[in-house]
Amino acid sequence: MILESLSLKNFRNHEDRSFRFPPGSTVVLGGNGAGKTNLLEAVHYLSFGRSFRTADDENLVRLTSDYFYLRGETVSGGIRNRTEASYETAGKKILRYDGRTVSARELVARNRSVVFYTDDMNLVLGASAYRRRYLDQLLSQTDPRYLDDLVRYNRTVKQKNSLLKTMKIKKKIPALPVSGSGIPLRRSCPA
Ligand SMILES: Nc1ncnc2c1ncn2[C@@H]1O[C@H](COP(=O)(O)OP(=O)(O)OP(=O)(O)O)[C@@H](O)[C@H]1O
Ligand SMILES: [Mg+2]
Repeated sequence: MILESLSLKNFRNHEDRSFRFPPGSTVVLGGNGAGKTNLLEAVHYLSFGRSFRTADDENLVRLTSDYFYLRGETVSGGIRNRTEASYETAGKKILRYDGRTVSARELVARNRSVVFYTDDMNLVLGASAYRRRYLDQLLSQTDPRYLDDLVRYNRTVKQKNSLLKTMKIKKKIPALPVSGSGIPLRRSCPA
């Protein structure tokens, strides 16, 4: 799938902008704060129905406006498709594929994209949760069953945690032994 064009209305700092991407790779150049990452964020939104920087769509609406609208035209195997996303400050989000209202789940399967963002250095340097989330995102795009399983798994974990909380079961972790320097010694991790 290739993204041919992208239009943004009242998305972050973009009031009304349209871009056409020529065949091949595209490099976006601009000063700090020009809106380059915002552009990537819009592409991500049309792939996942959400931002990779915020969980609150309200943050994406241009400060002086009360809605945003995104439109992307893609081509795959010679077939053109149109994806649209809109959000109103009242909280109503609509995702459309060729004019038909769709779920974020459907967009994930149709519009595949991968964002590599500065925070993604955590993939190498950070906790394993970052790596799991990254792989979950990739696999969800290629296998809808994986996405279904993931949604069910996350729901179950949430229910389990909420049950444990209700039952007031607290797992007591013994304090780490402290070294002579006052720095806690590392607990050895199971492989
Ligand atoms: N909801 C919003 N309404 C208006 N402007 C916004 C909104 N959210 C962010 N901005 C503006 O977007 C700009 C940042 O855009 P972006 O992060 O895309 O910059 P950038 O071109 O990637 O910069 P850098 O080169 O520093 O990474 C800032 O000027 C910020 O004030
Ligand atoms: Mg940036």
